[in-house]
Amino acid sequence: MKYNFDEIIPRRNTGSVKWDHCAPDAIPMWVADMDFKTAPEVLDALQKRLDHGVFGYQLVPDQYYEAIDNWFGRRHGWRGLTRETIVPTTGVIAAYSAAIKAMTVPGDKVIVMTPCYNAFFPAIRNNKCVQLDNPLRYENGLWSIDFKDFEAKCKEARVLLLCNPHNPVGRVWTREELLQVGKICLKHNVFVISDEIHCELTYPGHDYTPWATLPEDLVRNSVSCISPTKAFNIAGIQIANIFAKDPVILAKMDRAINDNECCDVNVFGVAALMAAYNHGEAWLDQLREYLLDNARTVYCFLEDHLPQVVASPLEGTYLMWLDFRFLDSAYGSARNDKDVARNDKVSPGFSERLANHLENNCGVKLSTGTIYGPVAEGWERLNIACPRKVLLEGLSRIEKGLQRFP
Ligand SMILES: Cc1ncc(COP(=O)(O)O)c(C=O)c1O
Repeated sequence: MKYNFDEIIPRRNTGSVKWDHCAPDAIPMWVADMDFKTAPEVLDALQKRLDHGVFGYQLVPDQYYEAIDNWFGRRHGWRGLTRETIVPTTGVIAAYSAAIKAMTVPGDKVIVMTPCYNAFFPAIRNNKCVQLDNPLRYENGLWSIDFKDFEAKCKEARVLLLCNPHNPVGRVWTREELLQVGKICLKHNVFVISDEIHCELTYPGHDYTPWATLPEDLVRNSVSCISPTKAFNIAGIQIANIFAKDPVILAKMDRAINDNECCDVNVFGVAALMAAYNHGEAWLDQLREYLLDNARTVYCFLEDHLPQVVASPLEGTYLMWLDFRFLDSAYGSARNDKDVARNDKVSPGFSERLANHLENNCGVKLSTGTIYGPVAEGWERLNIACPRKVLLEGLSRIEKGLQRFP
């Protein structure tokens, strides 16, 4: 192994959201960043840029677009990422928020597949749009799209805000699923904004399908928001890109990014992106193996110690989606099949109570399930992107914590 993901790097009191917005002595396994150093190749490029010492306004060079096009072409079979098809911006939230602004008027409806990334909700509200939930289905331990409900919602919506791969349920949507989504959207004139920030972190047998590799008519009815920040653990550096195949759509994105004043990118963001995409491949592949082993560690631990906690199969992301509903007496007595989602039967506030208990009494912080939508009552999200020793300690604290949960 060339890179060391077992190294424990103290992050407390570094101004880290993950570590410093967390009860003292609790292990933070919530917000989506990793406790690993970024790739040494990225660090070298940042150091070189730092050594220059002058940090004036940054132009985006041709090499930036070449790095993106080569990476996505090589790794994901997606070509055509050029200055003519990309608008750079400061982050993926900035990207999809501008895209909503560009494609809607106040009052328009935006579909989200809940439970979904919590920062989707304010972006819809801030653009004066109305959120329309298309809850995912949970059956036999698997998450899938409820296409019947989706098509019904498309009849009244203007935009779909898609998460591909999906945070928090860990699905990597298949080409067939995306095709079906795309065709329904085209039929009902619903524009697709595909957030693909988690695209690099997928596991064997679950390849990421870039929305932009679907048939031309579906691609023209979309934008894709991409960034190396999640995969290379450089979210604080803030850089992202919006891809649009249609020049008219791209011009709208450019307008919205300018209206929102987030068109100037960070000097370090440009340097880090180029280094990650040009030189980060070996590091990323080893990271993916390490994360897969972490996921296996969680499955084994649950099987041995907490067999009633059900982890959704992790196809992508480093965020495990855990079902704790068995702990709720209201759900327990109503339940006749643990695989069927019956969140209406879970006591309101259960996820929040459990997450608070784990953080404040048991020394481990998970993300409260219901921040991803009320349908997630009874669930919590666990971030496994940490050294294995820390992961095991976190799991053992969860085990002890559950024994003391009222
Ligand atoms: C689906 C998704 N989109 C966007 C973001 C945040 O992107 P950024 O930090 O580039 O704004 C996250 C962070 O966890 C995420 O999970």
